[in-house]
Amino acid sequence: SMSLTFLGIESSCDDTAAAVVTEGREILASVVAGQTTLHADFGGVVPEIAARAHAEKLDSCVEQALAQAGRSLADLDGIAVTAGPGLIGGVLSGLMLAKGLAAGSGLPLVGVNHLAGHALTPRLTDGTDYPYLMLLVSGGHCQFLSVAGPEDFTRLGGTIDDAPGEAFDKVAKLLGLPQPGGPSVEAAARDGDPRRFSLPRPLLDRPGCDLSFSGLKTAVLRLRDDLAAAQGGLHEQDRADICAGFQAAVAEVLAEKTRRALAQSPAPVLAVAGGVAANQTLRAALQQVARDAGAGFLAPPLRLCTDNAAMIAWAGIEAYRAGQRDGMDLAARPRWPL
Ligand code: KG4
Ligand code: ZN
Repeated sequence: SMSLTFLGIESSCDDTAAAVVTEGREILASVVAGQTTLHADFGGVVPEIAARAHAEKLDSCVEQALAQAGRSLADLDGIAVTAGPGLIGGVLSGLMLAKGLAAGSGLPLVGVNHLAGHALTPRLTDGTDYPYLMLLVSGGHCQFLSVAGPEDFTRLGGTIDDAPGEAFDKVAKLLGLPQPGGPSVEAAARDGDPRRFSLPRPLLDRPGCDLSFSGLKTAVLRLRDDLAAAQGGLHEQDRADICAGFQAAVAEVLAEKTRRALAQSPAPVLAVAGGVAANQTLRAALQQVARDAGAGFLAPPLRLCTDNAAMIAWAGIEAYRAGQRDGMDLAARPRWPL
């Protein structure tokens, strides 16, 4: 049958996004309008503000994506939209637009799980065959998924509290470094000694693939306060050493748990996605784990690792091929485990 072309719509967190993608793995357009500046003063995503911004930006994101792709709705084969999990206001805005476009154009509608979008990204970027192991590490998610088909995910483990990106952001805040914390902690760590402070390796002593990051954040808080009390403040070198120690701890526990996930569910390829996958120390550690297990290592380009709508369009194409069709009763699901 003919190659499909789908519009994808994403609005489940703090990015409003639209994309046009073909079944032949071409990304004809991928527009992402972030909200970082809107939330910068609040130290986190504010659901009310996010919902309103999505509602305001969705139309123009879709228009831009179609214009960039040189397509009109009549040229497309379907509309994929994130139906959850995420902030309900944002998801609803996306769903309403998608339903309106589908009803108006007669195109089929496919509701996509945001996590499935991330998990299927290696198929879009590299044509990776099933099965593979996916480590999703972002500001909102952290889990190991064994991916065996477009609707066949096995969760092997994940965080029991914070996501790693959240921990990077909180550590940056504790140390007075700019947000988002991941890049600024990584930059500060470059001049640091990862061995000066011994930080905990949470859950390493327990079997399985579950992870925890909130204890690490608390340990950094205590360390900062102890140093400040002892010397009347933090020196530049202290900050660098704390960042290096924190980053090393995160990389070490993620690497060890990935080793276990690969042992438990052997796969020819280890893939990562999510904003934290940009971290070079983490990438190097994971690459080594993959090499040791005789698996390939795949890290899609960052713009496709972080939230975007190309992954939603792609997941929609795969779900559509598997027979999924949704109606006007497609519901928003704030919580929706894979
Ligand atoms: O996937 P993403 O863009 O958004 C969602 O969480 O959905 O991930 C953002 C997270 C932030 O917490 C940010 O601090 C983190 O990814 N991050 C990093 C790096 N770049 C971004 N964490 C560690 N090292 C980095 N270089
Ligand atoms: Zn995401």
